[in-house]
Amino acid sequence: MKTIDELIAEGVTGKRVFVRADLNVPLSGTTITDDGRIRAVQPTVDKLVAAGARVVVASHLGRPKGAPDPAFSLAPAAARLGELIGADVAFATDTVGESARATVAGLGDGQVAVLENLRFNPGETSKDDAERGAFADRLAELADLYVGDGFGAVHRKHASVFDLPARLPHAAGDLIATEVGVLKKLTENVERPYAVVLGGSKVSDKLGVIDHLLERADRILIGGGMAYTFLKAQGHEVGSSLLQEDQIPAVLEYLKRAEDKGVEFVLPVDVVVSETFPDLKAKAPTEHRTVPADAMPADFIGLDNGPETNKLYASKLADAATVFWNGPMGVFEHPDYAEGTRAVAQALVDSSGFSVVGGGDSAAAVRTLGFDENAFGHISTGGGASLEYLEGKTLPGLAALED
Ligand code: 3PG
Repeated sequence: MKTIDELIAEGVTGKRVFVRADLNVPLSGTTITDDGRIRAVQPTVDKLVAAGARVVVASHLGRPKGAPDPAFSLAPAAARLGELIGADVAFATDTVGESARATVAGLGDGQVAVLENLRFNPGETSKDDAERGAFADRLAELADLYVGDGFGAVHRKHASVFDLPARLPHAAGDLIATEVGVLKKLTENVERPYAVVLGGSKVSDKLGVIDHLLERADRILIGGGMAYTFLKAQGHEVGSSLLQEDQIPAVLEYLKRAEDKGVEFVLPVDVVVSETFPDLKAKAPTEHRTVPADAMPADFIGLDNGPETNKLYASKLADAATVFWNGPMGVFEHPDYAEGTRAVAQALVDSSGFSVVGGGDSAAAVRTLGFDENAFGHISTGGGASLEYLEGKTLPGLAALED
């Protein structure tokens, strides 16, 4: 993979450089609630600006249906990027149309433009190679060089991620280089004990990574909505908690394999339950209580790890030399159910091992709960991407930058 520094050394002054970023930030209306992904790509933009390139930043945001949808506009992200780099950032109101062409043509050396959401064009995410290729051809007309730095999207075989680098001289940005460096540390000669904390709502999203980690990790700690499928598989009542019944056979097989291989598989011993799902907007106090994980009342919903689980998980992470964490432990967006997630984040901060927070939700959780980002070994910008990397899959956006 060519580095951005090598690309710059070859000469980028006056050249149009397309930067595929991941500016897929959480929004409340038009307010960005966590700008971590924009800050993460800023060093790459700054470097190109300093080198006199004409920088064309492009990204997706959310999952619009291949047509313009104002709710998914990248305008707020463009404005934030401008604040961060301390310069005006031009904004094109389309992706490859008149506005994009005029905006890019209007760039001077060292100036930056952001294109509108790439997913407003159906060619971006199309499964049809020709349709994706046609969109990539049009994107290629907007640039002379390509820098891949949207780590959060490298697991997507999308036009701007996979097809466009084949059409332009390309390099990897600093964010991708850093992220891949960290993931290599987790896959090649990992320092032990290696503990992994997995949360989030769906077991089905994590099957591949659990399968892979059963061969590599020393401890796997489970929390969040996915924990209830494990508890149910063990024969416990889980009330109306999140449950993927169809995953129970897979979960049972994993529990058995963990036992056979001597991998410590740790499940919540107590959980915080409520009769209703909390209102995440109002965040008003709720009726809730803590119950043993093997004695949940029927009809109640498990919404967070309980205090005994938090202590147990902290003890399992205290002496780990390496920790990877993906997925919140509960409904952290509501203060009554944020303790489990906070406790895991705190355990990572307290640990002297190398700690990696993997991905969108857990990274946002760490920041919204007020933790200092520098207290962690690394906070990844890609949840799905880092999980697929750990699964050993070939990631299209990285493969495209290889040659
Ligand atoms: C993410 O949020 O994980 C990335 O931006 C990729 O988004 P996607 O899952 O909609 O492709």
